[in-house]
Amino acid sequence: MVASSFLSFLCFCIVFLIPLCIAEDPTAFYNFEVSYITASPLGVPQQVIAINGKFPGPTINVTTNNNVVVNVRNKLDEHLLMHWSGIQQRRSSWEDGVLGTTCPIPSKWNWTYQFQVKDQIGSFFYFPSLNMQRASGGFGSFIINNRAVIPIPFDTPYGDITVTIGDWYTRNHTALRKALDDGKDLGMPDGVLINGKGPYRYNDKLVPDGIDYETITVHPGKTYRIRVSNVGVSTSLNFRIQNHNLLLAETEGSYTVQQNYSNLDIHVGQTFSFLLTTDQNASSDYYIVASARFVNESRWQRVTGVGILKYTNSKGKASGPLPDPPRDQFDKTFSMNQGQINQFGGALMQYGSYSYKNIYVYSWEWWNVSASGARPNPQGSFRYGSINVTEIYVLRNLPPEKINGKRRTTLSGVSFVNPKTPIRLADKYKLKGVYKLDFPTKPLTGPPRLETSVINGTYRGFMEIILQNNDTKVHSYHLSGYAFFVVGMDYGVWTENSRGTYNKWDGIARATAQVYPGAWTAILVSLDNVGVWNLRTENLDAWYLGQETYVHVVNPEPNNKTELPMPDNALFCGDLSKMQKPQDISSAKSFESNGSMLLLTIFLLVSALFYIYQ
Ligand SMILES: *[C@@H]1O[C@H](CO)[C@@H](O)[C@H](O)[C@H]1NC(C)=O
Ligand SMILES: *[C@@H]1O[C@H](CO)[C@@H](O)[C@H](O)[C@H]1NC(C)=O
Ligand SMILES: *[C@@H]1O[C@H](CO)[C@@H](O)[C@H](O)[C@H]1NC(C)=O
Ligand SMILES: *[C@@H]1O[C@H](CO)[C@@H](O)[C@H](O)[C@H]1NC(C)=O
Ligand SMILES: *[C@@H]1O[C@H](CO)[C@@H](O)[C@H](O)[C@H]1NC(C)=O
Ligand SMILES: *[C@@H]1O[C@H](CO)[C@@H](O)[C@H](O)[C@H]1NC(C)=O
Ligand SMILES: *[C@@H]1O[C@H](CO)[C@@H](O)[C@H](O)[C@H]1NC(C)=O
Ligand SMILES: *[C@@H]1O[C@H](CO)[C@@H](O)[C@H](O)[C@H]1NC(C)=O
Ligand SMILES: *[C@@H]1O[C@H](CO)[C@@H](O)[C@H](O)[C@H]1NC(C)=O
Ligand SMILES: *[C@@H]1O[C@H](CO)[C@@H](O)[C@H](O)[C@H]1NC(C)=O
Ligand SMILES: *[C@@H]1O[C@H](CO)[C@@H](O)[C@H](O)[C@H]1NC(C)=O
Repeated sequence: MVASSFLSFLCFCIVFLIPLCIAEDPTAFYNFEVSYITASPLGVPQQVIAINGKFPGPTINVTTNNNVVVNVRNKLDEHLLMHWSGIQQRRSSWEDGVLGTTCPIPSKWNWTYQFQVKDQIGSFFYFPSLNMQRASGGFGSFIINNRAVIPIPFDTPYGDITVTIGDWYTRNHTALRKALDDGKDLGMPDGVLINGKGPYRYNDKLVPDGIDYETITVHPGKTYRIRVSNVGVSTSLNFRIQNHNLLLAETEGSYTVQQNYSNLDIHVGQTFSFLLTTDQNASSDYYIVASARFVNESRWQRVTGVGILKYTNSKGKASGPLPDPPRDQFDKTFSMNQGQINQFGGALMQYGSYSYKNIYVYSWEWWNVSASGARPNPQGSFRYGSINVTEIYVLRNLPPEKINGKRRTTLSGVSFVNPKTPIRLADKYKLKGVYKLDFPTKPLTGPPRLETSVINGTYRGFMEIILQNNDTKVHSYHLSGYAFFVVGMDYGVWTENSRGTYNKWDGIARATAQVYPGAWTAILVSLDNVGVWNLRTENLDAWYLGQETYVHVVNPEPNNKTELPMPDNALFCGDLSKMQKPQDISSAKSFESNGSMLLLTIFLLVSALFYIYQ
């Protein structure tokens, strides 16, 4: 019995291992068991969402072009979807993990994501995308390393450190959800977590005793890459490390013009890499700070995350006041102009006019156009400034307002209602009436509506999107499936004349862009990735209340090269729920108890499937 099964296993290996050896893109496997655990990051016990018992979840650490397989088991008491924020999911919105593309994973079920991280190198993060769950955790870093043949524009750092920062409530996501459903505002967060931990006790009055804080240990005289993601609910955070420069090097897969900062704003959903040189004398430990931005600091003091940077030869504890935040809490121009204050590459000044109140206006990061590395599409070309725009959308948000008696948020007057059947699935099974391809190109003037209204994107079109923020707080907007070029940003209302200020040369390509209140941000995106792609605010409360839509991009001549077939394991729901086979959850074991042989078999099977698909 054992022998025969071993024999068949051997045959299996021969059949599948050989092609595997030829297939050049290796596969990385992860098991994610998503469950509640009790933690007290701010000194108050609460249920947080953990992955494999860890909060935050493990870092996904892969190399460009790897196939990634993540078997997610949902041990929560509600639906779950994992979203890989900034991972482009080329040709496969099926794996994007948002309600418009994928049916949710029911409680107690598991579902396996399979995707390739194609032509991307950089720092991203993942999180549970449904129902405010990110406010309870379930997030972690997602990094894609370069292959040795593709150099990146700095020496390999001595160490690579991932950091998640985010505002945090001691209420869990169901309580926050209920507040929003009841028409309330979430109010001020209770603190800021750094890698899931509360603040170091830098001040006895503000921080209670006994809180576990994050310590990052470093060797003196080295350079580290620190990748920081704001995974919070809705607060922009200012990040700084006492006595140290942060050399900005990368953002969401684009290598930037390298500049030193003493502090930097990271908006919700954004990720940056810094190079940190440990060049201080270690007379003490140093504070790592993430503090709320654009707020009244005297009221928001407790919304400050504090960790410790500890040199191995440290001579004492950090003490005294925290390093200063930027002294401009009510001058929002500072964050916008941060990059212009000192040196920057000559290229920008030659291209277009960037002057605003005598200060150069633009986001602070520029693309290092001479650096190698993965390029956003159009492949091999980053001369986006000379591509003709084929479609233009002006999207405007507003503060929450009542629609049919419910407090909702809108984009251009549309408050998005998620379809019961995911959009792409509805296409595939030719279901009518699930959604409308009628998202307005300009904000609607009439009363706001609740709709499943989607942007009709033209395959291979070049779209200009103007994000106009009429709310009173900073929003960051995210588009799945692409890296878009951030070409302009200014206060006031965008007009056609605003195009004269666009950066047509070295705008950064990224997945998330901030829009300041009373200001606009313009992005350009090449619609070369077939699928249905989520466009949303990253601010969780406004997202939950309807501030999102999708960009629907289909190839009029469908084939399996421009879009991968629907995965075999696709879940069915809504109008297609009859097609869903029940999952035998009675025999479902924890991942830990699986035999290694079984895992190996799954490994081979899935790899083989991937090989066949390519
Ligand atoms: C979340 O909090 C609510 C009320 O505060 C509580 O009833 C509920 O059990 C909590 N949920 C979880 C998963 O802990
Ligand atoms: C669920 O996990 C098991 C391994 O624990 C795996 O064999 C199975 O394929 C997974 N199911 C899905 C739908 O991904
Ligand atoms: C841009 O990248 C090139 C090539 O790697 C590198 O030599 C240069 O120092 C970088 N420039 C800046 C300003 O970061
Ligand atoms: C990722 O893995 C590589 C080895 O493949 C390792 O050198 C690096 O430190 C890891 N990075 C993180 C952040 O874990
Ligand atoms: C940034 O600061 C470090 C010291 O912390 C210094 O060694 C480096 O030369 C600076 N780099 C740039 C581009 O200014
Ligand atoms: C270390 O640096 C601090 C701050 O710059 C300075 O006050 C202190 O005297 C230095 N200590 C030594 C031993 O050099
Ligand atoms: C900030 O809040 C404090 C305390 O509530 C208040 O006294 C102060 O006037 C506020 N500052 C501004 C600029 O609104
Ligand atoms: C862009 O449009 C202009 C005017 O409509 C046209 O002359 C030009 O050839 C177009 N450029 C490209 C790259 O298609
Ligand atoms: C969507 O756009 C395509 C052109 O890209 C057009 O052919 C189609 O009719 C549009 N669909 C709707 C519903 O407007
Ligand atoms: C929102 O729009 C109204 C009307 O155009 C304008 O008066 C107001 O200043 C705007 N507020 C913001 C924050 O943009
Ligand atoms: C794509 O592949 C699937 C199965 O892998 C096949 O059923 C389908 O016909 C193919 N579609 C096209 C347009 O080639």
